This record gives sequence, C-alpha cells and structure tokens, in this order.
Amino acid sequence: MSCFSDIRYVLLISIIGFVCACKQTNDSFLEADRKVDFNENWNFYLASNSQDSISESTNWTQLNLPHDWSIEGEFNETNPANLGGGYLPGGLGWYKKTFQVKDSTKLTFIEFDGVYLNSEVWINGQYLGKRPNGYISFEYNLTPYLKYNNQENEILVKVDNSQQPNSRWYSGSGIYRNVWLKTVNKLHVANWGTFITTPQVTKDLANVSLEIALQNNNPVSKETIVRTTILDEETQVSVTEISASINQNESKTISQKLQVENPKFWSVETPKLYTAYTEILVNNKVVDAYSTPFGIRTFEFHLEKGFLLNGEQVKIKGVCLHHDLGPLGTAVNRRAVERQLEIMKNMGVNGIRTSHNPPTPELLDLCDQMGFIVMDESFDMWNNTKTEFDYANDWDKWHKKDLEDFIKRDRNHPSIFIWSVGNEIQEQWNEQGVETTKMLKAIVRKLDTTRPITVAMNPPVNMPSTDVTTQFDASKVYLNPVAASGELDVIGYNYAHQTFPFHQKNFPNTPFIATETTSGLQTRGYYDKKSDTLKRWPVRWDLPFDGGNPGNTVSAYDQVSTPWGSTHEETWKIVKKYDFLSGMYIWTGFDYIGEPTPYVWPSRSSYFGVVDLAGFPKDVYYMYQSEWTDKDVLHVFPHWNWEAGETVDVWAYYNNADEVELFINEKSFGIKKKENDDLHVVWRVPFEAGTLKAVSRKNGEVVLEKELKTAGEAATFQLSSDRASISADGKDLAFITVDIVDNEGNFVPTASNQLNFSVEGEGKLVGVANGDPTNHESFKGNTHKALNGKCLVVVQATKKVGEIKLSVTSEGIKSNSINIAVK
Ligand code: GAL
Repeated sequence: MSCFSDIRYVLLISIIGFVCACKQTNDSFLEADRKVDFNENWNFYLASNSQDSISESTNWTQLNLPHDWSIEGEFNETNPANLGGGYLPGGLGWYKKTFQVKDSTKLTFIEFDGVYLNSEVWINGQYLGKRPNGYISFEYNLTPYLKYNNQENEILVKVDNSQQPNSRWYSGSGIYRNVWLKTVNKLHVANWGTFITTPQVTKDLANVSLEIALQNNNPVSKETIVRTTILDEETQVSVTEISASINQNESKTISQKLQVENPKFWSVETPKLYTAYTEILVNNKVVDAYSTPFGIRTFEFHLEKGFLLNGEQVKIKGVCLHHDLGPLGTAVNRRAVERQLEIMKNMGVNGIRTSHNPPTPELLDLCDQMGFIVMDESFDMWNNTKTEFDYANDWDKWHKKDLEDFIKRDRNHPSIFIWSVGNEIQEQWNEQGVETTKMLKAIVRKLDTTRPITVAMNPPVNMPSTDVTTQFDASKVYLNPVAASGELDVIGYNYAHQTFPFHQKNFPNTPFIATETTSGLQTRGYYDKKSDTLKRWPVRWDLPFDGGNPGNTVSAYDQVSTPWGSTHEETWKIVKKYDFLSGMYIWTGFDYIGEPTPYVWPSRSSYFGVVDLAGFPKDVYYMYQSEWTDKDVLHVFPHWNWEAGETVDVWAYYNNADEVELFINEKSFGIKKKENDDLHVVWRVPFEAGTLKAVSRKNGEVVLEKELKTAGEAATFQLSSDRASISADGKDLAFITVDIVDNEGNFVPTASNQLNFSVEGEGKLVGVANGDPTNHESFKGNTHKALNGKCLVVVQATKKVGEIKLSVTSEGIKSNSINIAVK
C-alpha cells in the first residue's frame, strides 16, 4: 500500500468516526427521549361485582406494568371464562398513574401495546376513548389536556374483561403489554409513520424505498429537510435528503429512495438487520428522529418449489403460539418471550404463527433478530361469534381500523412473510365469507403489496370424515367457498394432512401453506403402554369425551392426537415428502393456559405443546430436533423406573447415524435402523432395574451414547438456571429448573414432591409451574408440586446490583439453593 493510500485510509476512518459520533449524539438526544417506558408506579384496583366504579375510598394497590390480574386468581370450575380461559377469573379493573410533563412546546402521547379488554382512557378527567380489541396497539394524544409547571397529571384506564366467555383460549386481563410515553416535536414522524420496501434486490444492489408520514401540528407551515441514513450497525451505507414544505395541521407522505450495495441478506440463519435512520430538520436543526429496523430479502411462495427465501428453498418448520407465557400469564416480559423463542430455535423451528391475534411488538422484534418466518394473524372471528362475548360483537365498528393499525404497525418487520386475516372463520363456508375476504384483502393491499394474504381454513377442501385415518377421496372434491374464490394468495390449511398431496390438483394456481397442523396431545413424562396403539381423543370435536386416562394424563409417546389433527410423525412425514408443500405451523410450540382438549375440569391448560407450560420439552421435541437441525441427536425414552418384569417400549429419536444399539445392564437388545420414512426406532423389552443405554453409530464409529438409570427415592434437588447472571433492570428473569434426584444424583422421573421456595437478595419470585395441566396451585405462590421430577421457578431481578439466592425445601429431602448474579 502506498503512503498516499495510507493517508486516505486514515482520513476515511476519521470521517466515518466523526459521522458515527454525531449520529450517536443525535440518537441519544432525540430518540431515547422520544418514547420512554411508562410502566412504573401505577395504581390498580380490581372491582368487585357490586362495585365497578372508583371513588375517594377506593383501595388502590401499587404495581408496575405489564400486569395480568387473571393469573393471580384462583382456578374455579364456575369461572365464566370456562375451559377456554383455563377456568381463571376475568373481571373489571382500574389503573391510574400520576406524572409530570415538562415541555409544553412538544406533543405528548400515551401508547399502549395492548390492553385486554375494552379499555377506556381518561386524562385529567377528560375522556380520550375506548378500544375494544384486546390485542391491538393504540395511542392517544394527551397534549390538549396536560398541566405543566410541576403540576401532576392523572391518567386513568378502565379495563373491562367481565363479559365472559369472550375467547377460546386464556387471554389474561389488564394492561398486559408495555405502555410508553411519547414526546415529540409538533413537526414529527407520525405513529408507525415509516414504510420500507425493497422493490429490487440483487446480489450486488438493493433498492430501498421509504415512505415517511409527516405530521405538522404547528399553527404555521414548516420548511423541512428529511434526511434518511441507512446504517449497518454504526456504519453509514447510504444517505439521502429531500426538502419539503408542510402546512399547518397537515399530514404529508414523503418518498425517498436509497441503495445498498452488496446487501447482506436477512435469512433464518443470518437475520441481518439494517436501520433506516430518518431525521427531520428545520433550520438545520434536527427536530425529530425515527429509526426503522429493516431487512433485505427476496421470497416467493412457489407452485412447485414451496417457499423460496433469497432464491433458496426453505421448508417452513413453524409453530403456532398463543400469547401467554406460562406461569407469568400474559403479562409481557421480553426475556420470557426470548426464552420461548430460544427453546423453539433449539428444536429447529424456523417459523412462528401469531395465533390468532396481533402479537406483542417484542415478539416481532425478536423474530427479526433471531430469524423466524412469521405468519402474522389478525382475527379468530369476523362477523360470527365463536364465544358469546367475543370480538364479533365489535366487528362492524372496528375491524377496518384494527386491521389497518395492525398492518401499519407490523409491515416493516422483515420476519413477516404472510398476513393471515382470519383463523377458522365460520363464514368460510358461505358467500358472505368470500365478500369479507375481498374486503379485508383490499384493506391490507392498500397498505402492503409485498406479502401474500391467506386465511387459515378448516379445511379448504372437503374431508370425508373427521377421522384422520379415513382416506381422502380425491375424486370427490368440494372446495370451501373462500378457498375456491381465487381471492387468496396462498391456500391456508388447518389440518386435513391427507389432502396435502392433492393440493396441486385442487388448487393448480395457488401455492400451499399448512397454517395449522397436528394437534397432538401429550403430558410430559407419562407413557401409556403400548406405544403403538394410536388414539384420537376426543372421538369428535362436538361430542363429550368420556375416555382418557385416570388423572387426565395423555401419553408422551407420539400416539395421541385430536381426530381433526394427526400425530407429529404423521404430519411431518407428509410435509417433508413434497417440495411444493412450503411448510407447516404445528399446533402448538408451547402448551398454553385454557383449551385442555381432550379433557375438561380439573384440567385447565393445553396438552398440545411440544414443550410444556413450564418450558420443559416433551419427548417429541427431539424428533423435530433430529429432523430439523444438523446437531447430533440421540434421545431415548421413556424413563427407566418401572416394575420388575414389566414390558416397556423404548423409543429412540436419532440422526447423523446409521443405527442405534440398545443395552440393558450392558446386555444388548439389538441394533435398530430407521427404514423408509421412519422417524424413530423402537424396542419392546422387559424392564430390569439398572442402566438403559443407547449408542448411535455412523460407519461403525460411535456418534452419541445416552444412559438412563433407575432412580431410588427422592433425596435432594439439582438446581440450574438458564443464565448465571441477569440484568439489574427490574425486569430481567432467571428461569430455574428444579430436578429431583436420588442419593446418587439420578433424576427421579416419577417424583411429585411438594416443593417450597424462598428468595433472598436482589430478586423476587414471579412464577412457578410444573407443566401439569391439572394442577390448581397458584402460579404466583411459593409452593408447588413437581411433575415427573421437575418444576420451574421464575425469579425477577430488582434494580440493584447484587445476588439472588433461591432456596428449595421439601419435607423429608435435603434442601438446596442456587445463586444468580444480578449485574
Ligand atoms: C384449531 C384452532 C385452534 C385450536 C386447535 C385445537 O381448530 O384453530 O385455535 O383450537 O384447533 O386443536
């Protein structure tokens, strides 16, 4: 390198350094103050039936948001939310908060990410409005009613979730998502005011197009310069400016075009994000700044090749998720959502369906960052109700506004690839459904033309019977009117896996997505013998179920599904086989509260999850891991604590190997290999206490060895935290697994001891769960039974640096404790 180019190099570095330094100053000056966390120090009052208003004598409790009051309630068979709501209470609650506002030259908004249900808001006694939808994000302009100069303002929120049932799953109640206070210049970027698309993308160049909605609330017109910089981390990759004049009280949309050379693509493995940093300048001074993270990628749902991402075939290996976070209820916590996604990623999942409602914004941010293919879904019903008091009652008045806001809020997320405008809508069976589909499609299209629109239909083609073992008669086809209308960009199948192979014949012009599959049923750690009997529970969706196991358990061998669904293996075998099947979203990734199919009370949460309500994987998790990841997998089950002489089916899920050999106390029970489309191998063996060992081999070399030992009596606990240290931010969580072990440290797979928890130091206990769908102990208590040897404790950091100590005791066994650093 010549001396000259050396100097140029140094100069360039200093210029970039200078640009970055300015950017940081501007960022921290404007953007950090623009939208601040408004969750702390609220007062809450849960009204009783006789008293739904507030007065001077109301007894308020102080708390921080997000908050779900239902999760603190008691399970009761008579609670009107019924089985759908997990038999937890609803009710009517009030929230209020006082605060001061300094800058009267600016506009102040309050932004709610979601309030369940029917929220109404007042500022200083002035009514701001009502928002019935429990999942939609919305804001109010507080400015005209605010008091300044060190005076207190009071915001009051009424939340009415008393009319039940209004949901088919546990909804939670309250201000269960984050609340923000937004302070902006009178000339500013409107709420969800940017829209980024990448109309042309090649390996060498991406054209980036940006629409910016500006709002001028000044009493005079303004001359402004709008400058957008595309940043790759801190590095500027492209910049453009445009001047505009904007009248008083005018909204105006500005378009900008930028280019990114040699773009780094967003993908599932490398979810590369860029930021479009938009500054609004008046007289050379930045008056507003707005960051929009985005991704550059191409995709297509293809008639033959399925889903193509950046030109490459990617099978969508997705899961449906409801929004509760197990023992935390629906109160959003970013770390809890992140943990769910980590557990899914580790299983090989690459897709999330936000069933069946607009998700919390944190979920989408995390999907952008972690690489998931999201189907973003808006509604579970249109005009016709599914439960008496559900959103169908608000449909006429609200669906347009709600759908528009949902699309505007979410359309910049690179992780979103499909809009679903409905799940199993009753009107799919008639012409009204076609009209509504057209109307909703038009609303979405106006706001986003870059993604396909689907409806999750059950099913799009006729099924001869609700019994999945019946063959689909491809010669007698009846398409449901919405599917047949030609209005959908992708045909969304809920179930009906036997019809999947005939998709191209039935819908020659429209690609395929399995919006929802499987509905397999399992309780973690329970096993029915024999494992090869297939069960469809209940017999039919509309008939009461009088079968099942004592204690409302379901076998964790993959042998039970609903009659409309199919086992995990049945489903994946078909989706795997055909390229044109773009992918599937399993019902569900995690168990959720409510919908305890096939049972009713005392069961109160679902059996559908691949992972239980506490976050512990069921065995079938490893079937997926063996199929959906490259990591070496060998998972052997069930446990090894049976009666002498009992016959036990031992299954193994494995990959990256040719065979697995099974040993009991060092005696071989033979080598097994997966044949044809097998997804597991199985041995039927007599139980003998001791050691069960499986060895997987490839070309004669050992790949993995797994051992299970017959455990003795419960003696103590092993405690492990998902992270050794957490942040002292008052929000971060440690998820601590309690494993009950015997004297020699062997896991006791049948233990159900009553455990007691106490927390000292810089943390508090915020949730306990064991994954048992029938347990009625509080998720918020400090005692809980173990289920099949395991229990989860969730601890939240305070804002002080230090240490948290969790101690676990149980009668008759040795206590143990664990420390977590709070940094
Ligand atoms: C589907 C429905 C889901 C859930 C599931 C249970 O039909 O879309 O919300 O109810 O059944 O199997």
